[in-house]
Amino acid sequence: MKTVCVIGTGRMGSLIVRHIVKTGEYRVVATDVDPEKRLLAKSYGAEVFENNRDAAKSSDVIILAVKPREVQAVLNDVKDLVGGKLVISIAAAVSLKHMEKIAPDARFIRVMPNILIDVGEAFIAMSPGSRATEEDVELASRVFSRMGEIARVEESLMDAVTGFSGSGPAYVFTIMDAFADAGVKIGLPKELALRMAARMMLGSAKIVLEGKGKPMELRDMVATPGGTTIMGIYELEKGGVRAAIMNAVEAAFKRAKELAESPY
Ligand SMILES: NC(=O)c1ccc[n+]([C@@H]2O[C@H](COP(=O)([O-])OP(=O)(O)OC[C@H]3O[C@@H](n4cnc5c(N)ncnc54)[C@H](OP(=O)(O)O)[C@@H]3O)[C@@H](O)[C@H]2O)c1
Repeated sequence: MKTVCVIGTGRMGSLIVRHIVKTGEYRVVATDVDPEKRLLAKSYGAEVFENNRDAAKSSDVIILAVKPREVQAVLNDVKDLVGGKLVISIAAAVSLKHMEKIAPDARFIRVMPNILIDVGEAFIAMSPGSRATEEDVELASRVFSRMGEIARVEESLMDAVTGFSGSGPAYVFTIMDAFADAGVKIGLPKELALRMAARMMLGSAKIVLEGKGKPMELRDMVATPGGTTIMGIYELEKGGVRAAIMNAVEAAFKRAKELAESPY
């Protein structure tokens, strides 16, 4: 049984630990500078180490789930222990080239998930580094498989993926809450309106993912001529909803690019 180590068990790292433990296919070890986060990882079934070197030493695969500004220090600390091993980084903005330079004997894969790994519905982009093998990509895909849909992308697209699907759930939660407020405005209780909004978004996503039509085709099926829906759509368009979403994603992409230029 291979041992997978997660360094940094904050928001993302702890969810990753929980999922990998659940597969039952790997021994999972975890470390964090914060004792409370270590306790959380332990409660999910990981073996917990106080220091990153001990954890890295006893592992076959290392997942870096610390903030981008901490990646360099963590890698420098364990670089002599990760030679010949697969290191998977989920950090935004830190390039494969940079990590490969710090630990020249390790094989790297960059992964950009999002918070939806919590419910196994994340979009998970994966870019293998220059030394990673096909077996490494297969192994990384297996490790992340229950956390969502995995897609291999060129590293040059990683900042776009970060601004789009890395940050994306936050945009969707904002829109969902706006729907709930809209429900309140027309007399629905907020909790009921929120459930309606969430269901609506879940179902709409499913119908598209199941290939039942493109979003605009499906929209036209709902919007009957002179009916209620087209009145609502007119207000959405007048409010510039599409431009607002496009601007939001572009702003996050630009910020991801800025961070990639100086992540430390
Ligand atoms: N959050 C998201 O939606 C999201 C989505 C995609 C990718 N990511 C990427 O995932 C990574 C983690 O993000 P996050 O939101 O999970 O951050 P987080 O909650 O801050 O988790 C990082 C954890 O690492 C710990 N840590 C700091 N220095 C360490 C060290 N030297 N050794 C071991 N542990 C250390 C932190 O402890 P302290 O808090 O005590 O410093 C914290 O518990 C980031 O690189 C981010 O770019 C995040």
